[in-house]
Amino acid sequence: MHDEMEVNLGNLLLSLADAMELANPAMASHSIRVAFIAWEVARCAEMQAGDIEDVFIAALLHDLGALSVEEKARLHEEELNTEAHCIKGAWLLSRVGFLHHLAPLVLHHHDQYNTHARFERTVQSRLAQIIHLADKVERAVNRGTYILHQYDRLRDMAKGQAGKALDPQVVDVFMTVSTREDFWLDLESPRLYSLLLRRGPCRGQAQQVTIPELKQVSELFRDIIDFRSRFTATHSFGVARSAKLIAKALDLSEFEVELMEVAGNVHDLGKLALPNAVLEKPEELSEAEYWLVKKHVYLTYTVLSTIGGLRQLPEWAGFHHERLDGTGYPFHLGQERLDTGARIMAVADVFTALEEDRPYRKGLRSDKIVATLAQMATENKLDGKIVQILVDSIEKIREEVDEQRADLRDFYDSQFTSLPTFAETEGNLG
Ligand SMILES: [Fe+2]
Ligand SMILES: [Fe+2]
Ligand SMILES: [Fe+2]
Repeated sequence: MHDEMEVNLGNLLLSLADAMELANPAMASHSIRVAFIAWEVARCAEMQAGDIEDVFIAALLHDLGALSVEEKARLHEEELNTEAHCIKGAWLLSRVGFLHHLAPLVLHHHDQYNTHARFERTVQSRLAQIIHLADKVERAVNRGTYILHQYDRLRDMAKGQAGKALDPQVVDVFMTVSTREDFWLDLESPRLYSLLLRRGPCRGQAQQVTIPELKQVSELFRDIIDFRSRFTATHSFGVARSAKLIAKALDLSEFEVELMEVAGNVHDLGKLALPNAVLEKPEELSEAEYWLVKKHVYLTYTVLSTIGGLRQLPEWAGFHHERLDGTGYPFHLGQERLDTGARIMAVADVFTALEEDRPYRKGLRSDKIVATLAQMATENKLDGKIVQILVDSIEKIREEVDEQRADLRDFYDSQFTSLPTFAETEGNLG
């Protein structure tokens, strides 16, 4: 295995942002399209390169606080009660060290230009206004109508909001950008994603992410995945930590141990496409729902594959429901195709699922968990050697994971069950 990676920031965030919108065709690629509009406006305004990249990244992530599929759909239809997702999004982003400075842009992306008392005319507020305009325009696009048959209406809409909801200077720049047909055609193009991969910002050597940065981004997505539901509030966390501890015990290289944690953080990425009604269903799933759930690993695998530059990541994350005897899903791979990392993830996922409380049962005791894992190893579903390593230190692993899980749960409770106010959030971001 190679202990190296070549992942660029734009590519990483483009792929992950797209994953957040897989569920609802009516708003597919909303974030990417908002990022594209924001990027074009910032370039046309001749902003500094750093600001252009910032507005692009913040726009890709602007709705990250709308955690559930249902919440996203509501936001898409009407611009009501927007505050909660702005606050949650800003909080989530403020936890990512190297993207921390973008949290205010997410917090303010729905600020009305004329009514916001705390609105100061700074570069940051200008960037937030660019995202505000981009979001408004994107949501006003009628996806069933050819873009050049409706762009007049979209321009009029923006113009009508100048000095009211929207910053008039930003609208001015938009009026220039939006005279170009190619701007609209790019926006509508199904190839926008690959177009931005090739021509967009955050590319090149300087934008290569390091493993600690990759880890931070994976933690952000871990939280987005986990915080959607109280029942799963620490699932990805538990999988990532136990997979990491097993990898350490197996003497994998330092790089692989870190990557194992990254893969664990995002192993359920595809679940972002599932409605909460299915995720939180207290009863057993119907057959139709079960087929829906099966798709999540496929999505995890395909989304992570588009990042490129990290061969193991999609496999370690996306193969966690594969079984050594070929009875897993969705690829039906057998032991020849499942490397150590993929095998560790499968064990960590089963282990974590068994020890967690679920709506319909309490977490199991260690002896019960050991029995189930041993049985699965005997049936050649899980790797016996890896199961043994977990079993040997199960108490130690449970203790370590539990301790950190308690911290995460506290954070979840303080930020997500009783949301801080807008003003508190603003104050805390400094
Ligand atoms: Fe929003
Ligand atoms: Fe949005
Ligand atoms: Fe899982």
